Amino acid sequence: MKTSYVLAAGATAFGLSLLAFSTSASAQVADSLTIYNAQHEGLTKEWAQAFTEETGVVVTIRNGSDLEFANQIVQEGANSPADVFLTENSPAMALVDGKSLFEPIAQDTLDQVPGQFRPVNGHWVGVAARSTVFAYDKTKLTEDKLPKSMLDLATPEWKGRWAASPSGADFQAIVGALLQLKGEAATAEWLKGMKTNFTAYRGNSTAMKAVNAGQTEGALIYHYYYFGDQAKTGENSKNVALHYFKNEDPGAFVSISGGGILASSKHKPQAQAFLKWLTGKGGQKVLRDGTSFEYAVGKDEASNKALVPLSDLKAPKVEPSTLNNAKVTDMMTAAGLL
Ligand SMILES: [Fe+2]
Repeated sequence: MKTSYVLAAGATAFGLSLLAFSTSASAQVADSLTIYNAQHEGLTKEWAQAFTEETGVVVTIRNGSDLEFANQIVQEGANSPADVFLTENSPAMALVDGKSLFEPIAQDTLDQVPGQFRPVNGHWVGVAARSTVFAYDKTKLTEDKLPKSMLDLATPEWKGRWAASPSGADFQAIVGALLQLKGEAATAEWLKGMKTNFTAYRGNSTAMKAVNAGQTEGALIYHYYYFGDQAKTGENSKNVALHYFKNEDPGAFVSISGGGILASSKHKPQAQAFLKWLTGKGGQKVLRDGTSFEYAVGKDEASNKALVPLSDLKAPKVEPSTLNNAKVTDMMTAAGLL
């Protein structure tokens, strides 16, 4: 069973004795925090270490994926051991919020994040952001041969020429944005064209690798997969360049990674302190100087210098709290994509 506090500490063999210890040592428990983490593991580890160093609050991280954890939180209800939920994208946050399982975020935390990076209701908050891109084979395609809009990828011109990872929360968030921006009929039509035209890969890194290896001409992914690889050896992206659709195109969608506090949390002050830190100087500095290459979203907080500035991306306006993942997966299933 994945839900026990002791299992989270990775001490299954000594579970009972440790459980007894942690419930009696109340000071230790009061200064701890459990995160259900669907963000990239490396990033949340960097965040948690820096936060613990500054505050002394011990952080336990359990790793999983956006929708897997969202559904688990709904199942667990009031018994969830999670204090904080961190996601890669907004739809999983919207799912949990739809069941009224979030504690409102403190106003001084919300005030640190501009309105476009958080839901209007303040039940969770954006902690980082990522841009949709068309990662293309620069040895085959030049600027003038690139799609002007993400919608072009569903036209006959692009048959058999591009890739994506449809099973991932990253891609499903993009489809969610398309649905909000263009409506159901246009989205169904696009998904139908996608099914005809694209090749499925499991994971965005794998899709980018396929572009790099000349197996496909482009992939619809997020920007940081490229920058992360470039910062290492660049071996999976040396033939790759990024195309930003801009122009408020659905393909210029900027997805918000969310942070929320569970209404059932027994450590609300620590959870509030963590999200305040995450959206403030400390957490945003990790985005700027670390190796995640995700965008900072804090007011007046700069992103990593290697990135195209967020303000230049001309992203479409999308309300994160109404991104509807259930509808998206239904439509993708109907189109034969899942
Ligand atoms: Fe990702």
